[in-house]
Amino acid sequence: MHYFVTGAAGFIGSNLCDRLLVLGHQLTGFDNYCTGQAGFIAQAVAHPSFKMVRADLHEQREELTRAMAGAEFVFHLAANADVRFGTSFPRRDLEQEHDRDVECARSDAHQRHQAHRVFLHRFDLR
Ligand SMILES: NC(=O)c1ccc[n+]([C@@H]2O[C@H](COP(=O)([O-])OP(=O)(O)OC[C@H]3O[C@@H](n4cnc5c(N)ncnc54)[C@H](O)[C@@H]3O)[C@@H](O)[C@H]2O)c1
Repeated sequence: MHYFVTGAAGFIGSNLCDRLLVLGHQLTGFDNYCTGQAGFIAQAVAHPSFKMVRADLHEQREELTRAMAGAEFVFHLAANADVRFGTSFPRRDLEQEHDRDVECARSDAHQRHQAHRVFLHRFDLR
């Protein structure tokens, strides 16, 4: 199966990528590295079944749609996970947590590449 993982250079995303590769899947990771770390995703980047795209999912929608082409399942983990300043900057958190851009890209990718249905899973326990 071909997975697409936003927040792939983050704590949870990078561990998920490593696990999916061990299970034999093909995947594309997407991250702007604002809080993600190259070291977290280094093992996956060296794997032949992995492709990493460095871009911002809100500012680079076209890039997001292109990168998602061919994916059958989307794990959406990109977010501001640091909740400490949420009450001081609620707008920032609301904008970053919004799924609209990923949902639109998913829809675009599906329309352009009819071959697959694309499922979206938003991971958030808060
Ligand atoms: N870590 C936890 O204990 C925990 C618990 C519950 C829920 N969550 C949720 O899981 C998700 C991932 O958490 P995490 O701990 O891995 O956080 P993290 O900060 O390590 O990972 C988030 C990743 O998203 C990327 N990112 C942020 N904004 C982006 C954007 N606009 N475009 C592209 N990439 C962007 C960051 O660079 C980072 O690599 C978040 O939604 C978080 O709220 C985490």
